[in-house]
Amino acid sequence: MCGIVGYVGKRGALPVLIDGLKRLEYRGYDSAGVACMNGNGLEVYKTRGKIKDLESLLPRPLPDARIGLGHTRWATHGIPSSRNAHPHTVGAIAVVHNGIIENYHELRDMLCAEGHAFTSETDTEVIPHLLYRHVRQGRSLPDALREAVAVLKGSFALGIMSDSHPGTLFAVRRGSPLVIGMGDNEHFFASDIPALLPYTNRFVLMEDGTVVTLTATDMILDRLAPGETASVPRQVIEVDWTPAMAEKEGFDHFMLKEIHEQPRTVHDTFSGWPADAEGIFDRLGLSPDMVRGLRRLQIAACGTSYHAALVGRCLIERLARLPVDVEIASEYRYRDPLVERGTLFISITQSGETADTLAAQREAQRRGAGALTICNVLGSTAAREAGGVLYTKAGPEIGVASTKAFTSQMAALSLLSLELGAVRGTLTRKEYASFRTELMTVPAAIREVLQHTAGIRTLAETLTAARSFLYLGRGISYPIALEGALKMKEISYIPAEGYPAGEMKHGPIALIEEGSPVVVIAPRDALFEKILSNIEEVKARGGRVIAVSDHPEALRGKADELLPVPSLHPALTPFITVIPLQLLAYYTAVVRGCEVDQPRNLAKSVTVE
Ligand code: M6R
Repeated sequence: MCGIVGYVGKRGALPVLIDGLKRLEYRGYDSAGVACMNGNGLEVYKTRGKIKDLESLLPRPLPDARIGLGHTRWATHGIPSSRNAHPHTVGAIAVVHNGIIENYHELRDMLCAEGHAFTSETDTEVIPHLLYRHVRQGRSLPDALREAVAVLKGSFALGIMSDSHPGTLFAVRRGSPLVIGMGDNEHFFASDIPALLPYTNRFVLMEDGTVVTLTATDMILDRLAPGETASVPRQVIEVDWTPAMAEKEGFDHFMLKEIHEQPRTVHDTFSGWPADAEGIFDRLGLSPDMVRGLRRLQIAACGTSYHAALVGRCLIERLARLPVDVEIASEYRYRDPLVERGTLFISITQSGETADTLAAQREAQRRGAGALTICNVLGSTAAREAGGVLYTKAGPEIGVASTKAFTSQMAALSLLSLELGAVRGTLTRKEYASFRTELMTVPAAIREVLQHTAGIRTLAETLTAARSFLYLGRGISYPIALEGALKMKEISYIPAEGYPAGEMKHGPIALIEEGSPVVVIAPRDALFEKILSNIEEVKARGGRVIAVSDHPEALRGKADELLPVPSLHPALTPFITVIPLQLLAYYTAVVRGCEVDQPRNLAKSVTVE
């Protein structure tokens, strides 16, 4: 949830740290801080608020330091305040932390009983106190670190610096993501790869349960487990993401840029995979016999990725005639799930680090299911722990509201359902070829929708005072109703509910009064007549119908506003019906003056339960 960054090398550390923190700010923006070291010892600057607030606090010229660490916080323990901001220091030991220390109460009580005085309400502060305690008892800092980490419960990533080791950074990964960036006589660490893209494209993805010691010239990776002192071999990866991918490139917000990237990201996701079923399943570690032997899929995900899973269910059941259960990842492990023989589990996660999704994946694996993940981040935890990975090629997604990851996930799922259908013999060769051709038309259809968006801002201007929204869809459009509502509420803060249109009369219809905005996803598919009836029901109660449809003639006189989309194969309409909804939420939030890329209370990667 928080973002951490560290630097040691020949550059001024503070500009690198501030720049890295800006790129990590999507992970949390309640407070921010940096620590650096030079001849004057340890200097710490921290404040409530955002990185720009931290910047304005820094002395000018910036302290000339070649080593430092930084933090941007999403508050878990303790309110957003400068006191609770990281780095936390005890003596001249500074610590930044992402994650949660579950047993901090008992550790804090123990340390307080020994006379340690705490200055914050955070769980993090026990860590520098433990380190200080062990060092005072005569341990070296590396030994103190091992001992301290051994008593911590929870999942975390840590960065540590001390004036006892002036040119050295330490970083620990246990449960929360951490990457090491390799430069020329310089090293970095950060919570994710995009934070460091301006400086390097060479990374080591830290394994869970490891500690790294970094100087400008050296990197030593070790295991944390007691007694395990053997060095961990380093596997350097080179990423093809560019720094520009993590920039706004002229757009007002990352979200708008990412919405407009979708023709390319969907295309890239399709083309990143072999053009035949055998090739795909081979890469996923599944033989044709295994695919034919499957009896059930379980897909688990959170938020937007969960909505992609619901679309995936429609596609897989339709094309591959395989039963699919879709699970909210945070619920999965607590309901004693049934994992029968022949069950394949699929997690869907943009970040690959969502704690609940990882826990669901581990639970399914523990119960004997094979696990695949549909994931956007190379080498993320979900990707490393799953038996196979279908990578989406969305590139770095920075806006907290997920857009391009969603359509890329649907792209991966449609490809998967098509290839499952081919191997399982539920599609004829002709059907397979024709659906594949249809799939390849999706990027152009999205481009077409994006060329006709001018009216959406004008429409949004009329909606900013709305007290609530209802989004309705049927069949494969129902998840799009959920997704449209999620986008609206998370960035504009207007309550919005997504509902299956046929269910409306069982409750939500009571919400409709004169002028209530009701967004209806109405593609011309087998359920079109049904959704027309639902529109009539809304109109009869005074609702203001905003319809997304490829059949405008049939809606004239029925819908109050029309957001037209081109026609597409009925199984693929979610790719284009979601685009106007992303834009409607975006412009509504902009007109209301909301912080689109950093909505309140949210963080991009939810790495805590
Ligand atoms: O990285 P993940 O796909 O696992 O993230 C899942 C959700 O946290 C994410 O989709 C969230 O709902 C977004 N803010 C939605 O826009």
